[in-house]
Amino acid sequence: MKLLIDDADIQKIRAIYDKYAVDGVTTNPSILAKCGRPPYEVLKEIRSFIGYNHELHAQVLSLNADDMVKEAHQMIDVLGKNTYIKIPTIPEGLKAMKLLAAEEIKTTATVIYTPMQAYLAAKAGANYAAPYVNRIDNLGADGIDFTKTFQNIIKTNNFKTQILAASFKNSKQMQELCEYGVGAATAAPEVIEGLMKNASVTAAVEEFVRDFEALCGKGKTMLNCN
Ligand code: G3P
Repeated sequence: MKLLIDDADIQKIRAIYDKYAVDGVTTNPSILAKCGRPPYEVLKEIRSFIGYNHELHAQVLSLNADDMVKEAHQMIDVLGKNTYIKIPTIPEGLKAMKLLAAEEIKTTATVIYTPMQAYLAAKAGANYAAPYVNRIDNLGADGIDFTKTFQNIIKTNNFKTQILAASFKNSKQMQELCEYGVGAATAAPEVIEGLMKNASVTAAVEEFVRDFEALCGKGKTMLNCN
């Protein structure tokens, strides 16, 4: 499962990249709005930091296909290769996905809440289909089960589309989809950090340090314990 950062704050992106092996960054208009700066300025800053080998996902705002395609062209011009154009999975969005697939422009079908949206996005040639796991949970349904169903539909029908699961709020949601083998997941930096928060692990590491320091002295490591 690829792991992406669902944020546009460059400090948070840098901090995650510093420690973890991640595959790119996803954004949406609400995430960009939180930065309070011109969207292209923020997106170019992210692209410049992650380079062109990592994925950058950014979303169109138009609600009709022709304008979505125009936005996509401009976004690719500015942000370069390995940019995925996020398109809401509405009827006009499906049309835009078809048109962009014909031009070999990569798309991420987003705002997916139902299995047949995922099916139609895959039919339209989207590279990724992005279900909103936690938002589905909040509707009283089961976002994990839905996402597994999306994955089954895509696999059973031999589509090349991959699942890019989004909207996570906890480690368990991510673990279940990792175990199930979805193609990718994107999560906020806080959720990614949460994957490693474990008091037992921290206590075990601290005990090793205490025991070693009792033997060799405070601050000693394998570099200077002779
Ligand atoms: O990009 C869409 C998705 O990541 C939304 O996540 O946390 O706003 O539900 P969230």
